[in-house]
Amino acid sequence: MSYVVITGASAGIGEVFARALAAERQNLILVARREDRLQTLANELKNQHGVEVEVIASDLADPEGPTLLVEAIKKAGWAINGLINNAGFGDRGHFSELALERQLAMIQVNITSLVALTWRLLPALKSQPDSFIINVASTAAFQAGPNMAIYYATKAFVLSFSEALHEELRESGVRVSTLCPGATDSEFATEAHMTDTLLFRSGTMSAEAVVRKALAGRHKAIVIPGLKNLLMVWSGKLSPRLITRRLAGWLQA
Ligand SMILES: NC(=O)c1ccc[n+]([C@@H]2O[C@H](COP(=O)([O-])OP(=O)(O)OC[C@H]3O[C@@H](n4cnc5c(N)ncnc54)[C@H](OP(=O)(O)O)[C@@H]3O)[C@@H](O)[C@H]2O)c1
Repeated sequence: MSYVVITGASAGIGEVFARALAAERQNLILVARREDRLQTLANELKNQHGVEVEVIASDLADPEGPTLLVEAIKKAGWAINGLINNAGFGDRGHFSELALERQLAMIQVNITSLVALTWRLLPALKSQPDSFIINVASTAAFQAGPNMAIYYATKAFVLSFSEALHEELRESGVRVSTLCPGATDSEFATEAHMTDTLLFRSGTMSAEAVVRKALAGRHKAIVIPGLKNLLMVWSGKLSPRLITRRLAGWLQA
């Protein structure tokens, strides 16, 4: 019996990943800080789909978080056939005006914990046939983002790292995919103080549609869900960086 680990499963895209994979009869390990929410979701999915769902409360802004999480998995003896590094957050504002502590925590959750979990769980993933990693980046990964400088930079890291890993692990049986959603309905915009930005006011995708694309494309190096997001990324590639960074700054002014 093997499990898929989903970080950030207490809300938004992570919660929808959990629902979709449970419907595929996949056993799950749900991770986030809000244990009560994870437990409620776990009970619902167990009753609905007859799958095993374990809950591990973990703060991935804590440098010890990934180590403790992997130790708990090893101690329980759970085999792992998937890892969805989805936990993450952003914040809107000028770099110099946002608290340094919050921006460093963002780097810890969005980058350092993602790298640590990937490295620590890779041996377990390699030992299972047909296993996968989905790292959640963003369309923010493709250009610099004034007014959210650190968030955009973290997602550029996730994309570059995961794309390289996709190639390195091509022969290993572990598929690595980078999910790059655009504005999506979840708690993200509220947490990042950006519900009133042009980016979110000009239309969002449902987390369900994002997850459908992500799971259908889990063998692909990069998944950009939604035509609008795809067009934005492709037009960005054809434009000078001056234009794309000014546009990004304007969309979240
Ligand atoms: N929504 C968008 O527009 C959008 C667009 C592109 C990319 N993304 C990316 O998609 C991913 C999921 O975001 P979402 O939209 O679903 O946002 P969300 O609804 O705010 O969910 C974020 C999840 O991350 C978890 N999380 C945050 N900080 C954590 C920490 N310190 N330790 C452990 N877990 C933590 C939260 O759980 P707890 O609070 O319970 O810990 C929650 O489950 C993120 O990586 C985000 O950057 C989102």
